[in-house]
Amino acid sequence: MTGGENFLDSAGRSDWEQLVALLASSGLPTAGLEEHLPTTLVVREGDRILGSVAIEMYGSDALLRSLAVSAECRGRGLGRRLAISALDLAGSLGAARVYLLTETAASFFRRIGFRDVPRPDVPERLRGSLEFASLCSSTAEVLALSLSDRSPSREAGQM
Ligand SMILES: CC(C)(COP(=O)(O)OP(=O)(O)OC[C@H]1O[C@@H](n2cnc3c(N)ncnc32)[C@H](O)[C@@H]1OP(=O)(O)O)[C@@H](O)C(=O)NCCC(=O)NCCS
Repeated sequence: MTGGENFLDSAGRSDWEQLVALLASSGLPTAGLEEHLPTTLVVREGDRILGSVAIEMYGSDALLRSLAVSAECRGRGLGRRLAISALDLAGSLGAARVYLLTETAASFFRRIGFRDVPRPDVPERLRGSLEFASLCSSTAEVLALSLSDRSPSREAGQM
């Protein structure tokens, strides 16, 4: 999975401090993420982590979280690449549907194919996750995508 000088990789324990710093500077919570490091992806450039995304599995439902690109690297397609890779990962782990919460990037995810979901429609097992708990009283929007509805042209950015 190469892409110029950056490459996409699985996160490991030694990435934790950089991940926390990236998420904090991006205004995203880290609660509960550590136990999902095996299903966290990062974009590396040398020893630096430029971006991240994580998948939490809850039966056939997945939660996409912690999508962040360092401020100076935004606008180069890394965010889209990470989001698509997270969908691939969720599918390979057996997810049928992927949910997410966002306060700042709903339109980014709609362009990939996510659709708005009323909170009461979110499966109970996802609502119990720390990500939902930490954002539950906020203005975060909930979006979801059925992996069977994925559109390659939309994901490639051909709107
Ligand atoms: C959201 C985020 C990951 C996007 O990363 P990025 O690398 O800049 O995204 P890309 O370069 O792949 O952008 C793809 C497209 O989405 C658009 N876009 C980027 N961020 C967006 C946002 N927050 N809202 C709406 N559209 C956005 C870009 O303008 C680009 O549009 P284009 O194809 O017309 O040029 C990044 O802005 C970020 O880390 N934000 C802070 C953390 C956050 O909000 N994460 C999401 C919640 S989990």
